[in-house]
Amino acid sequence: MKLAEFPRFPLTFGPSPVHPLERLSAHLGGAQIWAKREDCSSPLAFGGNKIRKLEYIVPDVLASGADTLVSIGGYQSNHTRQVAAVAAKLGLGCRLVQEKWVAWEDPGNDRVGNILLSRLMGADSRLDPHGFDIGIRDSWKDALAEVEAAGGTPYPIPAGASEHPLGGLGFANWAFEVAEQEKSLGVLFDTIVVCTVTGSTHAGMIAGFAALEDLTGVQRRVIGIDASATLEQTRDQVTRIARHTADLIELGRELRDDEVTLLEGWAGDVYGIPVDSTVAAIRLAARMDALILDPVYEGKSMAGLVDLVAARDIPADSTVLFAHLGGQLALNAYSAAFD
Ligand SMILES: Cc1ncc(COP(=O)(O)O)c(C=O)c1O
Repeated sequence: MKLAEFPRFPLTFGPSPVHPLERLSAHLGGAQIWAKREDCSSPLAFGGNKIRKLEYIVPDVLASGADTLVSIGGYQSNHTRQVAAVAAKLGLGCRLVQEKWVAWEDPGNDRVGNILLSRLMGADSRLDPHGFDIGIRDSWKDALAEVEAAGGTPYPIPAGASEHPLGGLGFANWAFEVAEQEKSLGVLFDTIVVCTVTGSTHAGMIAGFAALEDLTGVQRRVIGIDASATLEQTRDQVTRIARHTADLIELGRELRDDEVTLLEGWAGDVYGIPVDSTVAAIRLAARMDALILDPVYEGKSMAGLVDLVAARDIPADSTVLFAHLGGQLALNAYSAAFD
């Protein structure tokens, strides 16, 4: 099926806003940097990148007859908050497994920000002591079994909606949305910078931009910045989901090796812990353009962007699109990082 033929349940206001980061670009003295804002593109609980993935999953949820969405993430998972929002919007139940993915002891880390909102929206959100892993988890399978045992019909949504067969479509579509916005803005983004953890955001972009390249001949760099600190597992997951999504949308060719770029160097040693470059990038973006980033994801991808521009790895004549995928609600649970 072609991408446009997949059913999509609208959960956004429309195309996410794109705007230049003028002061940041001038400060870095290299490439022109713009942002595309998934953090303010949906009416549902502050939105974020999972909303776009869920737009393509909801038709399958509705067709399945399920009454409860079951998903998993860390205590401060943005993903589970967006699943809770979609469940509320659809009038479905929501069971969330919140694992202790991060050993960050800010008071309220297990109560404020994302998890507070999930609970406000009616999700049955329960803490679980297991640590970080982007793969399929027993705790999630147990939650699915519990819902069934209680007489419910669960619909499984894995971490980040990435391992879901339709998880890459949302960001394949994002690529086509970018191309439309380029026409009306009169710009061309030769480089995209995206934060990568569970993989389907980046993977969807790879498939979508590959399809666009085949239509238009325009080649771009899609640079994933790893924030998982489990680089090989994330790279495998991105590659697998990108290939699967490319097949789904009938790309009709193998992806080239140079189409999958995942860079390390800004995640620190463990997922979810901000390092000096993360905090510096968050402060810089906030002070330059009032662009608010989080300590787990976009603070790390912005740190990567800053260094790549400074090193001219991203050349000075580039026009860069920074994918802002949301995440700011977790800032409330990370006050100690900014003491
Ligand atoms: C704010 C934010 N940025 C980036 C990501 C990374 O996206 P993905 O898990 O699809 O790689 C996530 C989710 O994991 C996120 O919540």
